[in-house]
Amino acid sequence: MDYFSEVNYRGKTPAFVFLFLNYISHVFVSNIRCNWSSMPESISTGKNHNDQSNSNIIIKLSDVSKIYLEENKSEHKVLNRVDIEINEGEIIIVLGRSGSGKSTLLNLLSGIDVPSSGHIYINNNDITSMSEKNRTLFRRNNIGFVFQFFNLIPTLTVEENLLLPLELKGKISDKEQRIAMEILHEIGLGDRASSYPDQLSGGEQQRVALARAIIHDPSIILADEPTGNLDFETGLLVINLLDRIIRKKKKTMIMATHSKEVIGMADRILTLKDGKIIELKHEKEKILK
Ligand SMILES: Nc1ncnc2c1ncn2[C@@H]1O[C@H](COP(=O)(O)OP(=O)(O)OP(=O)(O)O)[C@@H](O)[C@H]1O
Ligand SMILES: [Mg+2]
Repeated sequence: MDYFSEVNYRGKTPAFVFLFLNYISHVFVSNIRCNWSSMPESISTGKNHNDQSNSNIIIKLSDVSKIYLEENKSEHKVLNRVDIEINEGEIIIVLGRSGSGKSTLLNLLSGIDVPSSGHIYINNNDITSMSEKNRTLFRRNNIGFVFQFFNLIPTLTVEENLLLPLELKGKISDKEQRIAMEILHEIGLGDRASSYPDQLSGGEQQRVALARAIIHDPSIILADEPTGNLDFETGLLVINLLDRIIRKKKKTMIMATHSKEVIGMADRILTLKDGKIIELKHEKEKILK
């Protein structure tokens, strides 16, 4: 696929270049500096099948702290010596007031950011001991990210947006192209492949963003307020779709949200308070009553 020529045809090259770089810097913070082709085999999938020690645990945080220095030099401990284990296939909802550290936690899990201390293991790989470049490569193979504001590139079609994570990994095969079309049908947008994001509703755009988060078959989906920019009903439609995709494909998902309506899909609910992660064992029953 040559979307550069398509973009030129639409006469939006400068905007595209800006948005593309913006997207890359947002999703794959340091990718621009990386040489894609030099990815070491040992971290290409992150699925360390030889190590059976924690076979069911896909994510483990061990004594993780994240401390920001305030302007007056005082320390702001957003995460304070946190331990958690998340099992393969679990759907985890993370609640917590604004500023409690939900996005910080997701950024650490994705490797976009690094903790001040402690270790984060994904598929038994210690991502905190990886170089920035290897962490970036690891993220590209293991993690799909869904954002509140969709982050689709306006000058790319729906299909081109969807294929972007694969495009970043190398040449797209015919099989991958076919799978992309199947996914588009699955999310009810099979006839919108050549539409542009501004021709779609918010809910449709978020459906494309969900599809984009899974197209490269990551084992973990991280979602930061994926319904935060949608009305209630559209948000529910998106959540139901996400729930269906995640369970069908047996992915692990961690979703930060303010919306209690999504709690029904959770296997476990966590909340962040004063730098600690607390499991809300009875929240689901309370909310669903
Ligand atoms: N780069 C940074 N430098 C300094 N402080 C930061 C930085 N990033 C986040 N913070 C602070 O860390 C705290 C947690 O921020 P975070 O974005 O993780 O909260 P959140 O729970 O996602 O909030 P919201 O629900 O509003 O999205 C906030 O007090 C924020 O100001
Ligand atoms: Mg946030």
